[in-house]
Amino acid sequence: MKIRAAVLCEMGKPAPYAQSRPLSIETLDLAAPGPEEVLVRIKAVGLCHSDLSVINASRPRPMPMVLGHEAAGVVAEVGSAVTGFAAGDHVVMTFTPSCGHCPTCAGGRPAMCEPGGIANAAGSLIDGAIRLSWNGKPVHHHLGVSGFADHAVVSPDSLVKIDPDLPFAEAALFGCAVMTGVGAVVNTARVAPGTSVAVVGLGGVGLSAIMGARAAGAREVIAVDLSDSKLALAREIGATTTVNAACPDTVEQVRRLSGGGVDYAFEMAGSIHALENAVGMTRRAGGMTVTAGLPPKDAVLPLNIAGLVGEERILAGSYMGTCVPVRDIPRYIALYRAGRLPVDRLLSGRIALDDINEAFDRLSGAEAVRQVIEFPE
Ligand SMILES: NC(=O)c1ccc[n+]([C@@H]2O[C@H](COP(=O)([O-])OP(=O)(O)OC[C@H]3O[C@@H](n4cnc5c(N)ncnc54)[C@H](O)[C@@H]3O)[C@@H](O)[C@H]2O)c1
Ligand SMILES: [Zn+2]
Ligand SMILES: [Zn+2]
Repeated sequence: MKIRAAVLCEMGKPAPYAQSRPLSIETLDLAAPGPEEVLVRIKAVGLCHSDLSVINASRPRPMPMVLGHEAAGVVAEVGSAVTGFAAGDHVVMTFTPSCGHCPTCAGGRPAMCEPGGIANAAGSLIDGAIRLSWNGKPVHHHLGVSGFADHAVVSPDSLVKIDPDLPFAEAALFGCAVMTGVGAVVNTARVAPGTSVAVVGLGGVGLSAIMGARAAGAREVIAVDLSDSKLALAREIGATTTVNAACPDTVEQVRRLSGGGVDYAFEMAGSIHALENAVGMTRRAGGMTVTAGLPPKDAVLPLNIAGLVGEERILAGSYMGTCVPVRDIPRYIALYRAGRLPVDRLLSGRIALDDINEAFDRLSGAEAVRQVIEFPE
């Protein structure tokens, strides 16, 4: 079938993207789903910094590619061997397909699925197939989703079924921002009630961590960003205190506010400087830093090892919030419906596919939180 999609052919074009237009809206060919694949009509897709990191070449991927990995839609057709999904099902897409039986999937860590990771690096579906093409040449899939398009062929391992009454724009956010931010708090760090938390970097991911920390019962939730408007939003959704990261004594302020350092610091900016600050904000004796930020692929952190050892600090990476999507997405949706995770507050704009380059300028300038592309009927 023919689809309309935003295609990235060349990474590293200079900002502003409204002028360089790295993403072009094209008519592509989408092959029919294979026996173990699903055709999804995309209804909404969010713009995440991880898409931007491909556009600006800080985290390269095979080109050309249809980006977009935070999507929700409706199943349009299922392959002959697909069980568990049927046309008409509403779904959220997840950005690592999980095979269910490799050692890491079997060990309960589907975000680390081995064939899923290999397929994502190759820009294919988990079965190795590439279903997108343009003038007869293959176009790569992004993280098994490629949601900047009106339709996508995906593996059922990339889908989680949701209730049909959940609006698509909100639903999409659960696929990346919410899963990553809330999951980092409740799965990776296992934040305990009554503890103190700092979150450095308040995009969709960091603000989700703020909500998650509040929902998990943290007594103190300190929000840190360079942008005053992000700090104001953080206060509205659950931060108890805010600190502007532009202050020369950001780390000392957080240490003072938390009586000597927080129990958990989260780095969600994708910056080594932010990560150094986050580590410095934790308390001695077990203070834990969790980083979900993805800086350029060769970035290295200088770390004082004597402090790590002598003060028993902990540093952990968190990918996809260490989530089990089929378990966690329904849980987080239930918390949203109960008013305990105000996910709708992340939605800072609804746009059309044609406005995508301008929208990436707003994300790059940290003016937007989550902008969602909606596809008309
Ligand atoms: N680990 C995962 O599974 C996963 C999933 C999604 C996104 N990510 C990564 O998480 C990061 C955040 O994603 P996002 O979409 O929320 O990004 P975003 O661009 O919307 O937000 C980043 C925020 O960090 C702030 N910031 C930048 N430098 C800072 C500093 N030194 N101190 C404090 N704040 C600073 C910016 O002002 C901005 O508000 C990115 O690196 C992204 O690639 C990781
Ligand atoms: Zn993302
Ligand atoms: Zn697996």
